[in-house]
Amino acid sequence: MRDAAPQTVYLSDYTPFPWTVESVELHFTLDPHATRVRSTIRFVPNPAYVKDPDEPVLTMFLHGENVKLIWAQIDEMPVDPEVTATGLRTAVPDGPFTWEAEVEIDPANNTALEGLYMSNGMYCTQCEAEGFRKITFYPDRPDVMSVFTVTIEGPHPVLLSNGNPVVTQKHLAKWHDPWPKPAYLFALVAGDLVAHSDSFTTMSGRDVALNLYVRPGDEGKCAFGMQALKDSMKWDEDVYGREYDLDLFNIVAVDDFNMGAMENKGLNIFNSSAVLASQATSTDTNFERIEAIIAHEYFHNWTGNRITCRDWFQLCLKEGLTVFRDSQFTSDMRSAPVKRIGDVIDLRGRQFAEDQGPLAHPVRPESFQEINNFYTATIYEKGAEVIRMLKTLVGDDAYAQAVTLYFDRHDGDAATIEDWLKVFEDTTGRDLTQFKRWYSQAGTPRLKAEETWAGDTLTLTFTQHTPPSAATPAPQPYVIPIAVGLLGKDGSEVAPTTILEMTQATQSFTFTGLSARPTASILRGFSAPVVLDHAADHAHLLAYDTDPFNRWEAGRTLARNTLIDMMLNGTRPDPAYLRGLQSVLDDTRLDPAYRRLMMALPTQSELATALHDAGHVPEPDIIYATLEALRDAMVQQFQDVLPQLYEDNLVTEAYAPNAEQSGMRALGNAALSLLTRVDGGKLAAEQYDHADNMTQQLAALANLIRAGRGEAALKAFEAQWKDDRLVMDKWFGLQVNEADPEDAHEVAATLTKHPDFNWKNPNRFRAVFGSLAMHHAGFHHASGAGYELLADWLIRLDPVNPQTTARMCSAFQTWKRYDPARRDMILTQVQRILSTPDLSRDTTEMLTRIAAP
Ligand code: TRP
Ligand code: ZN
Repeated sequence: MRDAAPQTVYLSDYTPFPWTVESVELHFTLDPHATRVRSTIRFVPNPAYVKDPDEPVLTMFLHGENVKLIWAQIDEMPVDPEVTATGLRTAVPDGPFTWEAEVEIDPANNTALEGLYMSNGMYCTQCEAEGFRKITFYPDRPDVMSVFTVTIEGPHPVLLSNGNPVVTQKHLAKWHDPWPKPAYLFALVAGDLVAHSDSFTTMSGRDVALNLYVRPGDEGKCAFGMQALKDSMKWDEDVYGREYDLDLFNIVAVDDFNMGAMENKGLNIFNSSAVLASQATSTDTNFERIEAIIAHEYFHNWTGNRITCRDWFQLCLKEGLTVFRDSQFTSDMRSAPVKRIGDVIDLRGRQFAEDQGPLAHPVRPESFQEINNFYTATIYEKGAEVIRMLKTLVGDDAYAQAVTLYFDRHDGDAATIEDWLKVFEDTTGRDLTQFKRWYSQAGTPRLKAEETWAGDTLTLTFTQHTPPSAATPAPQPYVIPIAVGLLGKDGSEVAPTTILEMTQATQSFTFTGLSARPTASILRGFSAPVVLDHAADHAHLLAYDTDPFNRWEAGRTLARNTLIDMMLNGTRPDPAYLRGLQSVLDDTRLDPAYRRLMMALPTQSELATALHDAGHVPEPDIIYATLEALRDAMVQQFQDVLPQLYEDNLVTEAYAPNAEQSGMRALGNAALSLLTRVDGGKLAAEQYDHADNMTQQLAALANLIRAGRGEAALKAFEAQWKDDRLVMDKWFGLQVNEADPEDAHEVAATLTKHPDFNWKNPNRFRAVFGSLAMHHAGFHHASGAGYELLADWLIRLDPVNPQTTARMCSAFQTWKRYDPARRDMILTQVQRILSTPDLSRDTTEMLTRIAAP
């Protein structure tokens, strides 16, 4: 048996651990199949643990999985604990004691990439959320914090752990981390690595050594990540007053990693795709993502590490806040409107879909079986939106004061959402009881806005309604900050943005003293994560809205409306939309990146979500064909200006992955993809031949594939990049992304036979199957072949890597919105996976929740 029987954990069952851990000493003797870990742990009775006075706690449970106990002793006396699949239980003295144990683990066979494992001959760890128990026996819970001293013996030139180095010798290193931390922040790395080094002087004048460790050969891909780290350190000082607190900050790039990156104290470990960057091998989108992830992990040093989570139900305490902080950082480094629009597209694409389906859960869930399944868009992205709303409601100054109080009051704590909200209540005197529903209820609120005009008064009446879900059967009204501005007929701003605070199910707000009926611009900046239903003058807003988000949103709404109209009623593309779009495109005063976002049509899955919301059954082939038809209409409308748009946005100066150049390339490439529809790929071929960076090369390749000229270019690309894993991930992914819906599943199946399809590497697996799942019309092919292929591979991957398998199961989460034939086919595959013997706890929980009636 691989996993223990699934057990549900409840927030309401929280009790402190009966002991605190005063210190932890670990000694690693590295060996691929027989690493030895010796631990010395000092336990002291926890005064916060309410003991039954009649019943002293005389046994202790320590987590442990896949660890072989060699020996154990308490206060130097041998003990023989009872060991099960999940841990051990031992008799303990009534008072402080020292536990010592030696265990053996097998990192080379650890394909799950959790605990201590090997990647290309290097050792590394991933302990969040519950991976430390695969390294040694320990109270593996975030509220048990301790000071770690770690000795590593191994034949590798680089031996790293958290904190500061104490001893560095050939084949032996000793590290000490003075900051008490939970075990999930423990990290160890050993390998033949090279460092790209730099330094940072903190606001109080301390020098911090910075290193980015990579495999030999990757040295040329470090400079950008290092700069992003220094920018993040400076930004956190300037904006949040947070200074770094060790002499050393290390980042290590690892090829085999389940997620993007991990914020281990002083030793961040990154998926190489989330840190390595160069002009030739990375796209502008990669650069921006890398900058954001480096910032995110760095910011965790305060929001996550110095103040951690009491239990995993509080995950959004660190993740929502840190995502919010990294989004503020990106807004400051680049363009705030562009960042906001990108975030909302992402939220609608992933979080709204999650909230609409069987996996819906509150930002703070109340129960789980496998915590790894809760690193979700709801906890991360909606968690960040909730903090954004809080800031909107209390204002920037009060937000700054409350957060400062949070850092002062809770530094060193394992805290809760209650603690977080309390600092806002104490700073502002507000009662946040109702606001807290954003943390406790699942589902996306629908917000209906109606206008009435009488005399000189505009009345806005809002109605909120949240569809019930299994997680929240009877949702109560939310506090919704609704940012509203008013525009005149001539486009001037009649009333600047004000925040309406809605607390009731239905509520009206009036604007008086108006000389003429204005156009209302509602939910500016997307001030709350809701679905807005407002019959507004979108064309007027598209032309004039002074709020850049809502101006974009007006175009998006027109696009969505015309697409839905085309689908349901067979109408032609709305000429008013195309004309409105044209005037935005022609307006060269607008940032190219912004104009590019204007041109982007809603995604297929966004349309499926919108159709389902409106009570229709989305038909993937029709959605696809309708988008194609609208793109053809765009080519007709813009034909004359597209060549110029392309030309105007060719970057002539030396490549830089900054916002300005990225925006130009994005807009130019949007023009290119429309032009490819009429020039058969001529311009794309030219661009491919002249590209001196991956953004231009990859965009050209995508267009060549679409123009039916991909074969030769794909061969050339492969020959050029076969030795670069990250670029080859793009090569695998792009072929699926750009495949015709008819044969996307075949393209994916063929790619799995490629000798470089190393399916145990999560990046490579996701390149093919993440892309297939994202290819809406291809994945939902009427034959069901997409579902079946994914299921085949999830069954194969599950015993190797349950975490990545379970995450990819979310491809099936939207099954209920499709037609009966597709529902049946999806459920058949879900059941087929579920009936696999020894299926992991991770995958079992995901699919059981997905298939729940
Ligand atoms: N805490 C990490 C982050 O958000 C997320 C993470 C990295 C993670 N690796 C993981 C979560 C493995 C679960 C399992 O930055
Ligand atoms: Zn995080």
